[in-house]
Amino acid sequence: MDEVSLQRLGTVVSTDKGPNVMEFSFVTEGGANDIVTRRGEFVSVVTDSGTVIARVQDLVQTNRYYQQAEAVREYQSRGEPLRSIFPTDRWQYTIARARVLGLWSDEKRLRPYFAVSPGAVVRRTDDDVLSSFLSLDVDDGLLLGKLSNHDLEFTPNMTRLLSKHLAILAMSGAGKSYFVSVLLEEILSRPKDKGRLAVVVIDVHGEYTYLKNVDFTSLGITDDVEVEHIRGSHFQIATRSLSAEALASFVSDMSTVQQRDLRRVLTEIQQDSKEGYSLIDIMDYVREDETISKNTKDALLGWLMNLENTNLFGKEASPQTESVIRPGKLTLIDLSDFISLRKKQIVVANLVSELLFKRRQGRIPPFLIVLEEAHQFCPESRQEIALPKSRIETIAREGRKFFALLCLVSQRPVKLSTTVLSQCTNQAILRCTNPYDLEHIGRSSEGIDKSSLEAITTLEVGEALFVGEAVSVPSFVKIRKRHLNPEGETRDLLRAIQKADK
Ligand SMILES: Nc1ncnc2c1ncn2[C@@H]1O[C@H](COP(=O)(O)OP(=O)(O)O)[C@@H](O)[C@H]1O
Ligand SMILES: [Mg+2]
Repeated sequence: MDEVSLQRLGTVVSTDKGPNVMEFSFVTEGGANDIVTRRGEFVSVVTDSGTVIARVQDLVQTNRYYQQAEAVREYQSRGEPLRSIFPTDRWQYTIARARVLGLWSDEKRLRPYFAVSPGAVVRRTDDDVLSSFLSLDVDDGLLLGKLSNHDLEFTPNMTRLLSKHLAILAMSGAGKSYFVSVLLEEILSRPKDKGRLAVVVIDVHGEYTYLKNVDFTSLGITDDVEVEHIRGSHFQIATRSLSAEALASFVSDMSTVQQRDLRRVLTEIQQDSKEGYSLIDIMDYVREDETISKNTKDALLGWLMNLENTNLFGKEASPQTESVIRPGKLTLIDLSDFISLRKKQIVVANLVSELLFKRRQGRIPPFLIVLEEAHQFCPESRQEIALPKSRIETIAREGRKFFALLCLVSQRPVKLSTTVLSQCTNQAILRCTNPYDLEHIGRSSEGIDKSSLEAITTLEVGEALFVGEAVSVPSFVKIRKRHLNPEGETRDLLRAIQKADK
C-alpha cells in the first residue's frame, strides 16, 4: 500500500483520556527542535478497517528535566544551564493532540466507530485520500487556493459551493473582496460546454470596475467573457412596474388608507397611459383626485417628491435585465457614486426582487448575485429598517429552488440578518477578531467547532475557513493569488503620496 510510504509523523500514545473514538495523542518523530507536524494539519492512521483521518488540534512540548521548578531555579541561580550538565535535549519531545474527523474506507467516508491502538503509526494524509475525503472536485472544481498546511489544491465543486448560497465573512482588510475576485475569475473562466452562470456584482465601492478592462483570454479560456459596467446613476426603475405596496415599501409609515388611495390612483393611471408614466405623472393624478383627503394628498405628494428626488425612477427600466443577465457574463452594478444609503438600498431592493421574479418565470438564466456590505441591506436589528431586507430574505429562502443564488459579503456578521445567514449553507470565514462577530458566526453555522472558531482570530490575510456543504469538514484554505489585477492601483499610502507629489 502506498500510504505506508507517506511520511511518518509519530506514534499513538496511551493517555488517561485516550485514544478514544474521537481523539488520540501521538509523540512526534524527530529531534527536540524539528517541527514535524503542525497545528491544523490532517493526519492519518491506517488500520485494517480503513484510514482514520484526524486533525492536529494542539501540540505540547514536554521535558522531564524541566518539570521541577525548584531544580530549574537552582541551576539557573548557579548560572549553569541545565543543558550543559544533562542531556536535556534527548528528553524533550512533542505530543500532538488530534481530533478524529472520520474513517475513510472503500472510497467512502464513515463515522468513526473505534479507537486507534496505542503504538499505531501516524502518517501524513495522502493528498488523493484527503481530496476525496474532503469531497473536493479535482477535475471540475473551482480552483480557489491551497489547503493550509498541505500542498493540495482546494477545488470545491461549484454546485455544492454556490447552489445554496454562500456567505463571506471577515473583518475589513482580511481579503473578502480579493477572494470574491478569485471566485469571479473561476466562475467566469468556465468553458461554455460545462455550463456557465450569469453573475451580478453589486459593487458598493467600485472595487471590481477593473474587471471591465482586463483580458480574460489571458486565463487561457476560449469562450468570450462579457463584462458590463453599469453606474448607479444610470440605473432607472420603471415606475409602472411598481405596485402601491412596492412604493409604500420605499417610504416609512405609509398607512393602509394612504396605500389604498395610492392603489386607486395607480389603477387609473395604468388605464390611461399604456406606455408608462413617471412619478411626476402620478403626482398630477394625486393632485387632481377629489376623493383623497387633503392630509393624505399632502403626505402622498411629499413621499412621491422625495422618491422623485432620488432620480432613480422613470418611465422605462434601465438596464433591461432580460438583455443584461446572460450566462458567462459579469454585470457590475457600481454604486460607488451614491453617498445616500437609501438610494443604494432602493437599487438593491428593486434589483433583487426583479431578478428573482424574472428567474421564477424563466425569463433570465440561473444567476449569482454578489452583495458587498450585505449587513447594510439585510441588517439583523429591527430598528434599522432596510428596504431590501425582506426581499433578500425571500431570495435566501426561495431562490435556491430557481437557482437564484446569493453570495453575501460582510465585515460585520453580527449585524447581518440571522435569517439570511442561516440560509447560507456555505460560509467562507476569513480573519475576524471581534468577539461579538465570532460568537454570531459560531451560532449561525452548525459545522464550526470551538477550536476552529478560535483559529479564526489567528488567520492570515487571504486565509479562510470553509464550512458547509462544499467541504465535508471545516477546512482552512490559503486563497490563491488572483490572475487578473487592477492596473496601477495604489493601496500603499507612501506610494500614493509620492505619486500625488510628483
Ligand atoms: N489571497 C490573497 N493573496 C494575496 N493578497 C491578498 C489576498 N487576500 C487579500 N490580500 C491583500 O489584502 C488586501 C485587502 O484585501 P481585501 O479583499 O480588500 O479585504 P476586505 O475586502 O476583506 O476588506 C488586498 O488588497 C490584498 O493586497
Ligand atoms: Mg472589501
